[in-house]
Amino acid sequence: MKLGVNIDHIAVLREARRINDPDPLQAIAICEKTDADQITIHLREDRRHIQDSDVAKILKASKLPINLECAIAPEIIEIACSLKPHRATIVPEKREEVTTEGGLALEGNFSAMQEAILKLQKNDIEVSLFIDPDSSSVQLAKDLGAQWVEFHTGKYANIYAMLYGGLANSDHCIKELNLPKNELEIMLADELKNIKTVAKIASSIGLKVAAGHGLNYQNVKDIAKIDEIEELNIGQSIIARSIWVGLETAIKEMQEAIKR
Ligand code: PXP
Repeated sequence: MKLGVNIDHIAVLREARRINDPDPLQAIAICEKTDADQITIHLREDRRHIQDSDVAKILKASKLPINLECAIAPEIIEIACSLKPHRATIVPEKREEVTTEGGLALEGNFSAMQEAILKLQKNDIEVSLFIDPDSSSVQLAKDLGAQWVEFHTGKYANIYAMLYGGLANSDHCIKELNLPKNELEIMLADELKNIKTVAKIASSIGLKVAAGHGLNYQNVKDIAKIDEIEELNIGQSIIARSIWVGLETAIKEMQEAIKR
């Protein structure tokens, strides 16, 4: 299983003080040393963490492929096309959200999406679409000509957290998941089965499959066993763990957790 290390959260810490420390650029050498497969960064429209200058510097310094997450906003697609990351993962963006809360709504945005995808591909950037794991989104991603889909694993991670812990603050509880243990167990098994089924469908129509969002050292194990998923993009849990054990060890521990 390949690991893309999402280093946005280093920039989140830096931007909390609007100074130059910690610099996500310093993570590149460590990711290379651990043989991570890819670096993932998200240039958000509101520039809340990664800045344009970070993208340019990281692309210049990195021997690892860079997966740039971006919205289809023309300004951001333009930046991607001029900086030429290895891959662009198109994600939905809402300014008020804390993080990317769900997959792309492809149906209502078909032509804008198609325009952005074609532009990126003309610039030799492979395109991935961050979608919820459902078969209609997979088919639309194929129709749009994307090479990859990345499944949003937030629902799986949320059910897992309600079942086994992981939401430290009860204010963060997902109210609609406040259910008895046996119901949560069934929901978790169903969502895992759904991700497996949809991954098979995506792979059978020639899409490469990645997954990410909310994955951590515990909940990642069953997701990592899904053969059709080639790559996981993981940020929050690795950077959080790196505070205690350092980034190199945090990445190695995740590589161990996703080994199959
Ligand atoms: N993949 C995509 C497309 C994302 O938008 C994110 C969140 O930035 C991740 C993976 C990583 O999520 P997390 O930080 O929860 O591991």
